[in-house]
Amino acid sequence: MVPTTVKQSDISITTSLNVNLDAIATNIETIKKRQPHKKMIGVIKANGYGCGDVAMSRILEKHQCAMLAVSSIREAVHLRNHGVVLPILVLGVTPKDDLTIAKTCNIIITVAGYDWCLECNDQLENLRVHIKIDSGMNRLGCKSETEFKHCISILSDKGARIEGVFTHYAKSDDKDDAFSMHQFKLFSSWVKASGYDFKWIHADNTDATIKFNEDFTTAFRVGIGLVGLSSTSLRLYPAVSFTTKIVSCKPVKKGERVGYGLTHMFMDDGFVAVLPIGYDDGFLRMNQNRKVYINGRYYDVVGRVCMDQCMIYSKNRINRNETVEIFGPHIPLPIIANELNTIPYEVLCMISDRVPRVYYHNNHIEKIEVFRF
Ligand SMILES: Cc1ncc(COP(=O)(O)O)c(C=O)c1O
Repeated sequence: MVPTTVKQSDISITTSLNVNLDAIATNIETIKKRQPHKKMIGVIKANGYGCGDVAMSRILEKHQCAMLAVSSIREAVHLRNHGVVLPILVLGVTPKDDLTIAKTCNIIITVAGYDWCLECNDQLENLRVHIKIDSGMNRLGCKSETEFKHCISILSDKGARIEGVFTHYAKSDDKDDAFSMHQFKLFSSWVKASGYDFKWIHADNTDATIKFNEDFTTAFRVGIGLVGLSSTSLRLYPAVSFTTKIVSCKPVKKGERVGYGLTHMFMDDGFVAVLPIGYDDGFLRMNQNRKVYINGRYYDVVGRVCMDQCMIYSKNRINRNETVEIFGPHIPLPIIANELNTIPYEVLCMISDRVPRVYYHNNHIEKIEVFRF
């Protein structure tokens, strides 16, 4: 094998997820203003909602975010290995065997129930924890006030460092806040009744941070709002776009067919252009027949989406290297999510590690991150 000094980031970009760091900075500041007296927890699980966990943690750190939250100890260790020093809370359940790693890497663990405490009781000493209360979503957390009290008692007995308590809203994106109010009442009453002096009390995600304002919690957890999305009317800036470039364009005749299975027949003479993006990039086969945007016009994706490529039809020739927007200013992420019968969170998570992340600051590329090829 011939070694090379070529860096992945030196190779030309065709398909990319473009992350506008200035928009993220503005969103952080806008959201902070909704709850100015509370601490911000930046939720950057799932590789920072696809935008890159390390890059997201850097910008959060720069904007005085107090803590990061991730889904697993694996994600937390990834951040530590990249020099991230902010407190990190793992929102998911951590296996007993990994609690030593949590202590070594100074990672805060979620206590999701009493059975977990019992199983881990010989590992709890000096472990930093936030206890989770299940106030109605029926996912993780103590399901009864008694279970919550038992957790506090065993954690205290075994010398764990109980730093926080939290819950999660099931319907904060709903117009009707009745169920969220019910969850908040239950959560706050259990926490008050425990008499425990928690430093970190948190419940709000992006929508709840924007909509609610109580003075019981001391922090809020924001994920999707960082990239400029919420189901409220607060003005945030969409911070991500997904683009690629035309790599080939050639004439086709009426009656010719395209792609695997030849599922689409051209009804007119025209051109077929190839985009170097396919389902391995997270541009799934269900995008067949959806539209992409190029220089003032929308074009149909025709035929089956392949692993690495897909095709569009155009009446006129399109120049090679023309930029193609999959989502962005002309095809907003919530629209494509809706067309794909899903939510923006899932669309972002589907964008695979093969897609380079290109970070913009002051309209210039600041950094390119390549996770795999
Ligand atoms: C426990 C928890 N807190 C906070 C968040 C952040 O939610 P959002 O992205 O809506 O701000 C999530 C996201 O799913 C979560 O699971």
